[in-house]
Amino acid sequence: MSDSHLDSPTAQIVSPFMQEPELMLECINLSKVYSEGPAEVQVLEGLDLRVYAGERVAIVGASGSGKTTLLNLLGGLDLPSEGTVMIAGMNLASLNETQRGQMRNRNLGFVYQFHHLLGEFTALENVCMPLLIAGTDVPSATRRGAAMLDRVGLGHRMQHKPSELSGGERQRVAIARALVTEPRCVLLDEPTGNLDRHTAHEIHVLMAELNEQLDTSFIVVTHDEEFASTLDRVLQLRNGKLELVEAPAQKRGPDTASAEQGEPPHGD
Ligand SMILES: Nc1ncnc2c1ncn2[C@@H]1O[C@H](COP(=O)(O)OP(=O)(O)O)[C@@H](O)[C@H]1O
Ligand SMILES: [Mg+2]
Repeated sequence: MSDSHLDSPTAQIVSPFMQEPELMLECINLSKVYSEGPAEVQVLEGLDLRVYAGERVAIVGASGSGKTTLLNLLGGLDLPSEGTVMIAGMNLASLNETQRGQMRNRNLGFVYQFHHLLGEFTALENVCMPLLIAGTDVPSATRRGAAMLDRVGLGHRMQHKPSELSGGERQRVAIARALVTEPRCVLLDEPTGNLDRHTAHEIHVLMAELNEQLDTSFIVVTHDEEFASTLDRVLQLRNGKLELVEAPAQKRGPDTASAEQGEPPHGD
């Protein structure tokens, strides 16, 4: 028998002086069968997932593999056929509709595949909405909404309605709306799929900053392999379950820290 594994980088990552990380989200034995149509469709089957506070997880998988279904279950927008979803220690099944809404507003941010902005409201009003729902007063909500729009590069488009914005701008408003409450965990469904590379990169940098500053967890469905590889884990959804594709050690990205000093990335 050899104990050479103790010298391996993997052994160092799980070293005993690291604190037990806080579990943000957990699914146990999750299954989803759609039975509305003529035939039953089993999409998820015995899926398990744990995401810790501050973790950034990419979910990849073929079209139709169930990625959107999974995000909807994680956010309590739909209910599983079997299994449990826990968010910040709360079992979603034990909450009623109102409580689930409050839990979402308090803990989660969503960026859907399609932006779902309210057409009759301005960009700024759309971004302020989750804050107002949470009870923030109008002046504070407006200030924070404007600051977040600035951060996604839309400070000059605050008074525009969604129909007066480009597709990429609408998606950036949707991202600002998801992040404005500084949620503990953000669920994103192909958030930058329709954006040009430059804007997509800016959104990725913004996510990395929030992750570092606020310890926000991100669960991102993406087809962007380069971006996925900058996250903490890449999981592939296949045959109704998640499989680990890549767990790059101790990385932070994309290129936020290294720019000034050329320092190599290091662990905390
Ligand atoms: N409401 C629904 N009723 C019936 N089948 C559905 C429903 N939503 C999704 N599906 C089916 O479930 C499968 C997974 O869908 P989805 O989660 O959207 O996949 P992905 O996001 O990975 O492309 C697909 O085969 C899709 O047709
Ligand atoms: Mg999808």
